[in-house]
Amino acid sequence: MPHATPASSTHPESPLVPIRIPFLPQLGPIQLSLVIPTYNEASSIRDLVSQLCAHLDANLFGAYELIVVDDDSPDYTAKLAQELQQEFPQLKVICRHQERGLATAVLRGWQAAQGEVLGVIDGDLQHPPEMILKLWQQMQRGADLAVGSRYAESGGVSYWSLGRRIISRGAQLIGLAVLPGILGRVSDPLSGLFLVRRKSIAGIPLNPKGYKLLIEVLARGKVGTIEEVGYIFQERQNGQSKIQLQTCIQYLHHLIYLRFSLGPLGSFLRFSTVGLSGTFVDMALLYLLHDPTNLGWGLMASKLISSEVAILNNFLWNDLWTFRSVTKLQPGALNRLKRLVKFNIICLIGLSLNSLLLILLSERLGIHYLLANLIAIGIVVFWNFYLNFKLSWRVTEVKPNPDKNNL
Ligand code: GDD
Ligand code: MN
Repeated sequence: MPHATPASSTHPESPLVPIRIPFLPQLGPIQLSLVIPTYNEASSIRDLVSQLCAHLDANLFGAYELIVVDDDSPDYTAKLAQELQQEFPQLKVICRHQERGLATAVLRGWQAAQGEVLGVIDGDLQHPPEMILKLWQQMQRGADLAVGSRYAESGGVSYWSLGRRIISRGAQLIGLAVLPGILGRVSDPLSGLFLVRRKSIAGIPLNPKGYKLLIEVLARGKVGTIEEVGYIFQERQNGQSKIQLQTCIQYLHHLIYLRFSLGPLGSFLRFSTVGLSGTFVDMALLYLLHDPTNLGWGLMASKLISSEVAILNNFLWNDLWTFRSVTKLQPGALNRLKRLVKFNIICLIGLSLNSLLLILLSERLGIHYLLANLIAIGIVVFWNFYLNFKLSWRVTEVKPNPDKNNL
C-alpha cells in the first residue's frame, strides 16, 4: 500500500544498475502488456483504465494486461488503482517506494509483464487510449516497434505555445545531432507512446535516464521493422506535468551516456577522454618532478617518468572502461599484462611520432608550432586508438574453421 510520503523529487533516479527484461519462459494467454506509469494521476487513472479496457476488450479480450507502475504518489494513485482491480481484473498495480523516474518505472512494469508485446502509455490521458489498438494492428502486421507519433501523418499537438514547440523540437534536434542514427529512425523519438516486441529488448541491459525510454529501446534494442501512427497529443485535463529542469538535464545526460556507450565512435570518445586524463597526470607529475620549487629533477628523467605514469593511468582506464567488453572476454592477469605491454609500446611509438610530426609540420611546412602540435596530437590520438583497438584489445579467440583443419 502506498505511504503518505510527501511529493519528493529528492528520491533517487533509480535503479542505478541496468535493468534486463526477461525472456518469456513460455507463451501464456497474455499477448499485450501495457504499462501506465503514474505519479499523482489520481484524477485521470479511472477514466484511462476504463477507456483502455473498453477498447482492448473489443479486440483482445483475455489476452492483455494493464500494469500501473506508481512511485508512491502522495495523491494515492496506487491505492485508487488497486481499488479499480475489482472492476478490472486485468489490471495489475506495482508501487515503487524510494524510487522515481518515468523510464525506469516502465521497465519495472515490463519486468513483471507476461505479454510478448510490451507497451507504454501516459497515465494522464494526453495519449488517446484508442491509439493502442492502432499500434497493436501494426504489431500484428509484423512490426517490431510501433510508435505513436506527433509528427507522422495526422499527428500533432493541441494548443502548444510557440515556446513549447521550439523547446520540444530543439530537444529533438539536439538528440539528432548527438545520435543521428538512432533518433533519426522515427519522426517522434521523444514519444512516450509505443509498443515493442519483447524479443527485441529481452536480455539486453537497459539503463535509461529520465523520461525517454524510446531512445534507449532504439539505441540498444534489436529493433527491425518500425511503424509509426500519427496522433494528436491532447491537452492535460487534470493534474500537472512532471517535467522539470531536472528532466531536461536527464535527457542530455542520457544522450551523452548513449553517445559514449555505442559503437566505435563511443569507444573513440571514451579513449579520448582517458587520453585527456592522462595529459593531466603527465602535466601534474612533470611539474612535481621537474619544477625547481618541487623536486627539481632533470627534464628528460622527469618527462620519462611522467609519460610512463600517464601511460599506466591510461591503460588502467582503457582496460576497465573504454574496452571493458573485450577485457571481460579475456580475463586474468597474464592477459592484462599482455595488453599492457602492447599498449605501452604503441603509446611510446606514438610519443615519438608526435615529436616527428611536430618537427615536420612546423619546420618543413611552416605551420605555427602550437597549431602543428595540435595537429600532431590529433593524428597520434587516432594512431593510438586504431592500433590499440586492433592489437591490444582485440578479441583473439578465433572459432576453428573445419575446412581449414582438413588442409
Ligand atoms: N511512475 C512514475 N514515476 N511515473 C511518472 C514519473 C515518475 O517519476 N514522472 C512522470 N510520470 C508519469 C506521469 O504521471 C504521466 O502518466 C506520464 O509519466 C507522463 O508524464 P508527464 O509529466 O505528464 O509528461 P508530459 O506530458 O510533460 O510529457 C510527455 O510528453 C511526451 C510527448 O512526446 C511524456 O509522456 C512523454 O513520454 C511523451 O513522449
Ligand atoms: Mn503528460
